[in-house]
Amino acid sequence: MSGVATDMSAYWDRAGRVWVEQQALLDRMYQPIAKAVVDRVDLRAGETVLDVGCGSGATTFEVAWRVGPQGRAVGADISGALLELARRRAGEQELEGVNFVHADAQTHDFGATFDAIVSRFGVMFFPDPVAAFANLRRALRPGGRLAFVCWRSPEDNPISQVPLEAAAPFLPEVPKFERNAPGRFAFADPERVRSILAEAGWRDIAIAPLDDPTPVSFEELMTMSLRVGPLNPILSQADEALRAQVRDAVAAALAPRVQDGAARMDSACWLVSARA
Ligand SMILES: C[S@@+](CC[C@H](N)C(=O)[O-])C[C@H]1O[C@@H](n2cnc3c(N)ncnc32)[C@H](O)[C@@H]1O
Repeated sequence: MSGVATDMSAYWDRAGRVWVEQQALLDRMYQPIAKAVVDRVDLRAGETVLDVGCGSGATTFEVAWRVGPQGRAVGADISGALLELARRRAGEQELEGVNFVHADAQTHDFGATFDAIVSRFGVMFFPDPVAAFANLRRALRPGGRLAFVCWRSPEDNPISQVPLEAAAPFLPEVPKFERNAPGRFAFADPERVRSILAEAGWRDIAIAPLDDPTPVSFEELMTMSLRVGPLNPILSQADEALRAQVRDAVAAALAPRVQDGAARMDSACWLVSARA
């Protein structure tokens, strides 16, 4: 492990356990997003690519398929729990040229060895995003490419707000989205993203909407709302009676979004690209 900020590391070791538990669902839901981000850097066989905030490795594996056995796909993450799963999955797939590093991408010295950097939802958590993106730029060879996907605003992602609003009457406090603070919606404002990247020395910055209509079942929608989302840390401390009240309220609020057994998360994201 290198230069890992301990508070973020502790947070992601905890939150990472939920991502480990729900890896199959998250990967199925977000597979089109991994493909879109990897497509954006237009990889060639034999290239060397860094996946930032790689989690359990889905995007790293997508990269490995594109660059082939002569290439190299490196996943970097701050969460030990997620890296353990990523390494196990790489072993099961017997993919060549894949490895994982336990590192804080904001400060880790990757060496100027990569042709491209990708990230699926792994770059919104830096306490100092300008420093982090300047550090990532230094990891690329001159002219190297960057592409990442981040969330648009909570208003553009109503499915993330419905469970919170439904649970609010039963809870003393519900988590609030802090504009521009490190976290899921840190890069909701595209002008902020553009100025962070420009200040960090990136050029040819492009930001385009990416919408993912992958269908999910009602049960999966409930899992995303109660287990993966921000209600999880509150419910893990609650008693069973409160959990049941919140579960019923969230189920009632989400029910109108399901038709013929299928619902859509309608993930509203930005696909961001730039050059070093
Ligand atoms: C929302 S998850 C996305 C995981 C993965 N990319 C995926 O799509 O399945 C965010 C990931 O970023 C990682 N992360 C957060 N801050 C980081 C940092 N400073 N350096 C490296 N990884 C970080 C977390 O541990 C977590 O795995």
